[in-house]
Amino acid sequence: MEKILVTGALGQIGSELVPILRERYGVDRVVASDVRMPPRGDDGPFEFVDGTNPRQVQDVVQRHSIDTIYHLAALLSAIAEQKPQVAWEINMGSLYQVLEVARRNRCAVFVPSSIGAFGPSTPKDDTPQDTLQRPTTMYGVTKVAGELLCDYYHHRFGVDTRGVRFPGIISHGAPPGGGTTDYAVEIFYEAIRHRHYTCFLKPDSRLDMMYMPDAMKAAIEVMEADTGRLVHRNAFNVTAMNFTPEEIAAEIRRHIPGFVIDYKVDRVRQAIADSWPHSLDDSAAREEWGWQPTFDLASMTRDMLENLERKLQVDI
Ligand SMILES: NC(=O)c1ccc[n+]([C@@H]2O[C@H](COP(=O)([O-])OP(=O)(O)OC[C@H]3O[C@@H](n4cnc5c(N)ncnc54)[C@H](O)[C@@H]3O)[C@@H](O)[C@H]2O)c1
Repeated sequence: MEKILVTGALGQIGSELVPILRERYGVDRVVASDVRMPPRGDDGPFEFVDGTNPRQVQDVVQRHSIDTIYHLAALLSAIAEQKPQVAWEINMGSLYQVLEVARRNRCAVFVPSSIGAFGPSTPKDDTPQDTLQRPTTMYGVTKVAGELLCDYYHHRFGVDTRGVRFPGIISHGAPPGGGTTDYAVEIFYEAIRHRHYTCFLKPDSRLDMMYMPDAMKAAIEVMEADTGRLVHRNAFNVTAMNFTPEEIAAEIRRHIPGFVIDYKVDRVRQAIADSWPHSLDDSAAREEWGWQPTFDLASMTRDMLENLERKLQVDI
């Protein structure tokens, strides 16, 4: 039976992954951890663990007999551009400590990479699984280095490292943590509350996206995949849809006819978006472990609006 540690568990992805893992494997078999304290009423084991602190990571793995780590602690793209030195320390520092503890304790490790691991010289359309990766952001630098480090720990030490390159993740639970695709979450809150959203990216900025239930499916399925079928192991391209701010606004307008979008472009985040692909080719994930997303733009938009209407208690 698996005993799982999730680092960075209180973030946008972790706060949804932990309950799903607990439902699947049992509440006591999933230890959530973060450098923040959980909200009151959260049940299930929780530990304060700074991923960059080798003693804290080793201690929690040993005390709970952990054999699988979902390592989610990181600074996201926009925040990492504001604090590049801190981003290096957290993103690379925590990954190195987690991989070292995994090596010594024979743990499997899931590490999410990102579309941020690509750069301006990467082919933008149908971006291949194996291609040029010369990112121009600190986030991207840590993601490419992370992908390589995970590959290294697998072929050099036999650590069962696996991962996917997530696109922008859209969800109605915990707010996003400061990424370039956050607009695709904010737009829903503002559409419901004010019928108006000012977008920080240009109307035609096309990026890959995925609804949270599909992100959960990808993380769990790649970890449960038959090892013998995995050729790539780390950093599988996965995607579910791609759209521009203009296109998602049009889809929201089908449900909220008076919705208005305007634009005040943020130079830093626009430059990041311009350096990323428009659409990923995720055929390796489909072939090697049967990846298949469930939600497209229309079904994601309907589900987001229904859930946020309930959460914000506003009729649309
Ligand atoms: N959300 C997305 O759209 C997206 C897209 C691609 C990849 N990813 C990747 O998925 C992972 C999780 O992303 P997220 O959106 O949940 O991020 P988030 O910013 O919402 O959450 C990150 C969590 O890590 C915690 N943390 C920060 N420093 C820490 C440290 N030193 N030790 C332990 N915890 C620490 C934070 O408190 C936070 O709860 C990251 O690796 C991110 O790069 C996310």
